[in-house]
Amino acid sequence: MNHQPGLFAVGTRDHYHLEFDLRPDVDRAALATALAGVHEARGLGSVNLVVGFGAGTWARFGDEQPDGLRPFDPIEGTDGHGVPATQHDVWVFAHGTGRDTVLHAARAIVAAMAPVATVAVDRPSFMYLDSRDLTGFIDGTANPGLDEAPEVALIPEGSPCAGGTFVIAMTWVHDLASFDALPVAEQERVFGRSKPDSVEMDDATKPANAHIARVEIDDDDGEELEIFRRSTPWGTASEHGLYFVAFSADLRRYDLMLTRMFGLGDDGVRDRLTDFSTPVTASYYFAPSADALEALIGSA
Ligand code: HEM
Repeated sequence: MNHQPGLFAVGTRDHYHLEFDLRPDVDRAALATALAGVHEARGLGSVNLVVGFGAGTWARFGDEQPDGLRPFDPIEGTDGHGVPATQHDVWVFAHGTGRDTVLHAARAIVAAMAPVATVAVDRPSFMYLDSRDLTGFIDGTANPGLDEAPEVALIPEGSPCAGGTFVIAMTWVHDLASFDALPVAEQERVFGRSKPDSVEMDDATKPANAHIARVEIDDDDGEELEIFRRSTPWGTASEHGLYFVAFSADLRRYDLMLTRMFGLGDDGVRDRLTDFSTPVTASYYFAPSADALEALIGSA
C-alpha cells in the first residue's frame, strides 16, 4: 500500500497543523466530500499534506482497523508534571516553503472542512535556523534517515492497514527565560548533547534525566525502538514552543517514551526537559495509506 507522500517530503520550512472536531451526525459522504476539498488544497503552492484520524473517527469511517489504535490517555507524572489528553477527530499537516502559500492552503483546508468540523488547534510552525528547537539545540540528529524512515514509521505489509502510520501530535510551551538562564554546559546536560553541533555525551557523562537518555529505548531483543520525528517550533516573541509530531509503525513506542519522560518508568527518573517545557495538547492519530485515504474520499 502506498503511504501518504507528505510523510517523508522533508526539508520544507513552513508547516501548518490543524486539528478538527467533527460535528455530530456527520456521515461518511459528507466527510468524504470535505476530504476531497482538503486534498485539492495540495495544488495551492505545491503544499504537501498528511491527513490523520482519531481512533473514534477511524473506527466509524475507515474500512480496515490498525492494531492498537486508541485515543491519547492523560499522563499524571511525578512532581506535578503530566500530559493532558486533548484528543480531536481529524488532523491535517500542511507543509511547504513559503508562509504565504502554506497559509493559503491552510485556509482552503479549513473552508473545505467547515461543513463537517470545527477547528480545535490552529498552529502554524516553522523550521528554525538549521533545524533547531527554540532552545537552540538541533532537533532531528538521531532521526532515522529517509532510507530507514519508512521501516520505522509505516505499518508493514501483511499487517492490517499496511502503509499507514501512527501519529503523535503535541503542543509544548517552552519557558525559555528559565532555560536561557542556565549556563550552556548545564543546558547540554538537559538534552545530553552539545549545543553547537549536537554531539552526544558519552554514557559516563550523560545524566540519567537527560532528554535523550529518557527516550532512547530498546525492545526485549535489544533492538532500538525508533520513531520518525517532524516537530517544528511555533510561536511569537512572548509565547512559543514546539509542535511535537512523529510517525511510528506502532503506537506503543510513544507510550514507552512518555512514561520514561514523566518519571513513570522503572527507574522513576523524570526528563529534565519537562522542567522547561510543558505539553498543553496531546492526541494520537492514524494516517492511513494513500490508497485507504483515497477509498474514503472516493465514497463521496
Ligand atoms: C519540548 C519537547 C521536545 C523537545 C524540545 C525535544 C528536543 C529534542 C532534541 C534537541 C533531541 C536531540 C537531537 C535529536 O536526536 O533529534 C531530541 C531527541 C529525541 N527526542 Fe525529543 N524533544 C521533545 C519531546 C519529545 C517527545 C515528546 C518524544 C517522544 C514521545 C521525543 C522523542 C525523541 C527521540 C526518540 C529522540 C532521539 C533519541 C536518540 O535516539 O538519541 N522528544 N529531542
